[in-house]
Amino acid sequence: MTKICVIGTGYVGLVTGTCFADLGNDVVCLDVDETRISKLKNGIMPIYEPGLEQLVAQNVRAGRLVFTTNYPDAVKDTEIAFIAVGTPSGVDGEADLQYVRSAAEAIADLVDTPIIVVNKSTVPVGTGDWVADVIKKRRGGKPLEFHVVSNPEFLREGSAINDFMNPDRVVLGSTEREAANKVAELYLTLRCPIVVTDLRTAEMIKYASNAFLATRISFINEIGNMCEEMGADVKEVARGMGLDKRIGPSFLDAGLGWGGSCFPKDVKALAHMAVLHGTHPQLLQAVMEINRNQRRRVIVKLRKALGGLNDREIGVLGLAFKPNTDDMREAPAVELIHLLQNEGAHIKAYDPQAMENAGQMFPRLTLCNNPYEVAEGVDALVLATEWNEFKQLDFERIHELMRQPIIMDGRNLWDGDRLREQGFTYYGVGRAVNGQD
Ligand code: NAD
Ligand code: UGA
Repeated sequence: MTKICVIGTGYVGLVTGTCFADLGNDVVCLDVDETRISKLKNGIMPIYEPGLEQLVAQNVRAGRLVFTTNYPDAVKDTEIAFIAVGTPSGVDGEADLQYVRSAAEAIADLVDTPIIVVNKSTVPVGTGDWVADVIKKRRGGKPLEFHVVSNPEFLREGSAINDFMNPDRVVLGSTEREAANKVAELYLTLRCPIVVTDLRTAEMIKYASNAFLATRISFINEIGNMCEEMGADVKEVARGMGLDKRIGPSFLDAGLGWGGSCFPKDVKALAHMAVLHGTHPQLLQAVMEINRNQRRRVIVKLRKALGGLNDREIGVLGLAFKPNTDDMREAPAVELIHLLQNEGAHIKAYDPQAMENAGQMFPRLTLCNNPYEVAEGVDALVLATEWNEFKQLDFERIHELMRQPIIMDGRNLWDGDRLREQGFTYYGVGRAVNGQD
């Protein structure tokens, strides 16, 4: 049993802390956000993540998991401190390290026993060395035995616990083999490959992985745009490509493009790092540009289909950036709604989990209780997030409810031919109809 402190109890910190507790460790989850911690102490999850509430409750009951805002208590005597605070985009697209700095400074101020400091947050290449410098400077000559290890996280929202417990690999970067081994021990029962590298290589593996996945999505979206013009169907193209073992089927779903709290900020941060170091990230620039255009193409299609957007009623199904989360950070739906509202459209929307976040973000949005309320009286229905509950809708009822039966399927979820037979004007992404968009 290792005594672990997780600094930052957001998506990554909460899942990491809970899973390490479930693996039998003694875990303290620390955060500066009083509301978040008091909710957690009362068993209320600050985020929607399938299976999390139950796993937290189980481990709290077993006495292996506690939540606190008390820094001295949390870091005292801890053997391993995971820094899992946010690293949002700064003004020029760089990763803002202010929260990482304050976590590192707190460790320097409060710890006097040997400690391994693990960067779990996604941080620019070189941050491991920088964290070591921050701690040394802050100690001002007062000795402390510590090592910094990079241990980037690869979990996805919506399947976070499963991803954490069944990782494809664990990456550990350190100049001190012993420190890396100590962190590796925490993961041994997961029986996955453990890649041990130097600090900077581990940090780059994280950015390169996210950037590559974003590149695959932008690639298939670019192919989809060609399909629309050339009379092909991108879904079938992706299937045909994905069966090639060298390509594989994942991350080839064309749609409204990638969003969320990580791909947008991480691709931007990697491009920023590249420029700082004098290299030209031309592929990354294109990947971001294709992604931006993906949302705008939908607006162009809608404008054309409706003869303008001013005073049109548009229904949006799905607000979270992907299914199984309530996270709306950089969600494609958010940009769509802004663009539509800017052109004078009125928006009604529904999401199974993100309604509370949506209400705070968009005061002018009409929030509905289900897809049918959204459909009532609208000129077009846009699918922005492919939640399971949208897969099987009563389209006959929807057809009756809508003012104009126009469907914009931003995730290629539905069978376009069937909907056309039912009298809808159906648009997918990257799917031509007999050679026509
Ligand atoms: P988040 O915004 O959900 O949570 C960050 C938490 O850190 C917040 O609760 C905040 O109050 C807390 N915090 C900030 N400063 C603090 C401090 N000095 N001391 C203690 N707590 C502090 O962020 P997140 O989505 O969990 O992401 C955290 C990091 O993990 C980021 O670098 C992100 O890129 C990376 N990451 C995220 C995911 C994901 O799916 N969200 C996956 C892999 C990696
Ligand atoms: C992503 C990575 O998949 C994780 O490995 C990583 O740990 C995480 O970022 C991170 O660093 O935070 P996440 O953002 O939770 O995870 O979700 P994804 O499933 O990767 O989806 C990201 C976005 O891409 C979503 O908006 C999704 O709709 C979109 N997407 C995904 C597509 O448009 N097409 C696809 O084929 C796949």
